[in-house]
Amino acid sequence: MEKISRRSFLNKSAVLAGTAYPALMALGLMPAAPAHAFSLTGTGKQKHVVILGGGLAGMTAAYELNKLGYRTTILEARNRSGGRVFSVRKGSTNQEEGGPILTSNFDEGMYFNAGPSRIPHHHKLTLHYCRELGVPIEVYNNVNESTYYFSEGKGRLSNQKVRAREIHNDMRGYTSELLAKALDQDKLDMSMSKEDGAKVIEYLRAEGGLDIDKLYKASARRGYLEAPGAGEKSGKLADPHKLVDIIQSGLLDPDFYNVAEYTYELQMTMFQAVGGMDNIAKALEKKVSPSLKLGAEVKKVHNLPDGVRVIYKDKTGEHELLGDLCICTLPLPVLSNIDHNFSSPVSKAIDFVPYIQTGKIGLQFKRRFWEEDEHIFGGITHTNNDLTQIFYPSNGYLGKKGVLIGCYNFNDKAKRVGEMSMAEREKFALEKGSLIHPQYKQEFENSFSVSWHKTKYNMGGWAVYSSEDRKSHYPALLKPDKNVYFAGEHTTYLTAWMAGAFESARSVVTALHGRVTEQSVQYPTTTNKG
Ligand code: FAD
Ligand code: ALA
Repeated sequence: MEKISRRSFLNKSAVLAGTAYPALMALGLMPAAPAHAFSLTGTGKQKHVVILGGGLAGMTAAYELNKLGYRTTILEARNRSGGRVFSVRKGSTNQEEGGPILTSNFDEGMYFNAGPSRIPHHHKLTLHYCRELGVPIEVYNNVNESTYYFSEGKGRLSNQKVRAREIHNDMRGYTSELLAKALDQDKLDMSMSKEDGAKVIEYLRAEGGLDIDKLYKASARRGYLEAPGAGEKSGKLADPHKLVDIIQSGLLDPDFYNVAEYTYELQMTMFQAVGGMDNIAKALEKKVSPSLKLGAEVKKVHNLPDGVRVIYKDKTGEHELLGDLCICTLPLPVLSNIDHNFSSPVSKAIDFVPYIQTGKIGLQFKRRFWEEDEHIFGGITHTNNDLTQIFYPSNGYLGKKGVLIGCYNFNDKAKRVGEMSMAEREKFALEKGSLIHPQYKQEFENSFSVSWHKTKYNMGGWAVYSSEDRKSHYPALLKPDKNVYFAGEHTTYLTAWMAGAFESARSVVTALHGRVTEQSVQYPTTTNKG
């Protein structure tokens, strides 16, 4: 009991290459090729590993352990695999705390990714598994200068849709102009020679789009009032927004920070799985289906002197499952309410590591008005109201219908929206969204929303560690608690990413296999060098 209240209170190689390898594999003498320099030797001798949770971490652990000759059982509470990798389609269901099971009414072929929607190009392991499992990927357009900044109720630019390119270029222009002036007047103590100073000024002119006098004026960078065309149509430029209007409308506030271009994980090129991110989970599921028990809710996990005892419940009742070892990938807010006999440091980490509140609302429209009327193909509109972001789909371009992520928010904003009923969330997304896109009123068909911190079997978006938590709680989760190993995005520095689930699975398989085969094996790190 105490655990529940504390938790809810806190909730706020290619080593083998060349021709010999395929021949050995064909003879059945070798495990399947481990890519990403993940080559373990020795066999698991049919030891039974019980894996709790059939998300990416659990299924990847089973996939790799099966290759090494272990016997695995995955217990997954939901009637689908993939956990947070959830693409909402016609007939998809979700259940939130205290609520009914909801079913999506999207048309056949329409979907949105309620969990992961984008893959950074440097998440090598995510891309590796897409390659190994044959999941086609396509470019995900995360950065789009045609999307909007929409400041509700603030300053002279309030309640106007301002294209991102206008603000980005105006701000580049103004800041470059200021800096160029300061450099011209020797106002910056940069210990720079005159020649170097001149080079910086030249750079600023190019970066900010400054004229010969180093002043920022309107240019085509920020788009046209009237587009150029045939005959006399040379195109009409608009004046830049006044700096003071940009500031007073809050467009320099964190709601509008240009994170997509600057954040390492959000820099282009980004990818998505063709047809829905859940195709990654489905492809993994195919590989591990003999090990996977769906609809099996873990109730209890206890270390025994020489193994592990798990109690789970399915539609036929409660069952006991014994294993030699266990890999637990359950999200911590869920594990916190499960009967276990873990050590005190592990128990504390389980109870105290906070998870983010986050949610998405998918809206199906009968016409892709954002493409037809507004030339927006993928990307994200930002607003200071509780919607926070609108994501335009990076697939199905020029098609008839489409699904927008009409709201993707975090923390207090997500909490407020999460407290609404599904009908209220739809109303909210339509009301706020139609301030930006009045077409919503005409074109809307239906919606589906997922509030992750209220969703059964997750109860949070992803782990959010402070640097203090990384020191006090995190280390306990990186070691096995007797016969139980921990994996999942929360056991990595890649929280909030599928790559975290994949990396954690491999890391734990390496440690477990080292123990079983009495080898000292190290999980390789990846580099950015190539
Ligand atoms: P999970 O997927 O949560 O798996 C845990 C499993 O345990 C679940 O299947 C659950 O049903 C099961 N379970 C829970 N309780 C029990 C029980 N009692 N008994 C049995 N089973 C149980 N990643 C990206 O790479 N790109 C993105 O763009 C991205 N965006 C995201 C956006 C959102 C809104 C969210 C929520 C996540 C996003 N992520 C993204 C992160 C990514 O989804 C996760 O890091 C990853 O899927 C976590 O995998 P996991 O296996 O660790 O956990
Ligand atoms: N990784 C999460 C996303 O891309 C935060 O939205």
